[in-house]
Amino acid sequence: MARFAGKVVLISGGARGQGAAEARLLVAEGGRVVIGDVLEAQGRALAAELGAAARFVRQDVTRLEDWAAAVEAAESMGGLHGMVNNAGIYVPKPLMQTDAELFERHMRVNQLGCFLGMQAVVPAMERAGGGSIVNISSTAGLRGSPGALAYCATKWALRGMTKAAAVDLAPRGIRVNSVHPGPIDTDMVKVWTNEQRAVRLSQIPIGRIGEAEDVARVVLFLLSEESAYMTGAELSVDGGASL
Ligand SMILES: NC(=O)c1ccc[n+]([C@@H]2O[C@H](COP(=O)([O-])OP(=O)(O)OC[C@H]3O[C@@H](n4cnc5c(N)ncnc54)[C@H](O)[C@@H]3O)[C@@H](O)[C@H]2O)c1
Repeated sequence: MARFAGKVVLISGGARGQGAAEARLLVAEGGRVVIGDVLEAQGRALAAELGAAARFVRQDVTRLEDWAAAVEAAESMGGLHGMVNNAGIYVPKPLMQTDAELFERHMRVNQLGCFLGMQAVVPAMERAGGGSIVNISSTAGLRGSPGALAYCATKWALRGMTKAAAVDLAPRGIRVNSVHPGPIDTDMVKVWTNEQRAVRLSQIPIGRIGEAEDVARVVLFLLSEESAYMTGAELSVDGGASL
């Protein structure tokens, strides 16, 4: 299926995990991808694996100039039609163990990064005739998440920013939606002890931890024309964990 033929999608934090799964699926469906990440070796290896349809750009999402370079790379590949604000950090600490530095670090990467990204892609998406932005929040953006105050704060922020941006950008032909993964088996959750993982698993009605591809397929739906009448929506991909 060539659902994404002629389309270019920028994925922040795309070197591994969910972002990498999205890059692979997009290329398999005829699209081209710009993979941004601070992980240079992994990002370059993924771009090499995907061939001419992929480019890696070293990108720290907290830096305006890195966003400009990533957008430029996308336009050099044929325009910018989609963007996934996927980069994120998760350093879980409860309220009383969260200091200002940890709080600000989460805000800079997860929240400021998403804001800068949405702003950076708008002119290029307008030049491409419209586009779709997908912000990766979390079930931690739908309810309280145990022992992860700063992370939770930023993921709630992404949910609100998605809805505000959806209203602002609809007249420009740009849709903005959020995705809320539950526990997904990537490097991010390697911080969990076996006990913490077992507790998470016991809370999932579908009975398994998610795979990166479970989220990637939903992200591709939101990037595609199949979701043309959706903006400001929030989709949980969590095996029922937030029920
Ligand atoms: N894994 C889960 O259980 C889970 C659940 C809900 C939401 N999420 C969210 O999904 C997204 C993808 O996470 P993942 O599960 O693939 O984990 P991951 O840690 O494998 O991927 C995150 C990526 O973001 C990159 N990144 C971190 N800081 C960055 C920066 N300053 N600039 C650019 N890139 C940066 C990392 O290098 C990494 O490649 C994140 O936003 C995460 O918060 C994950």
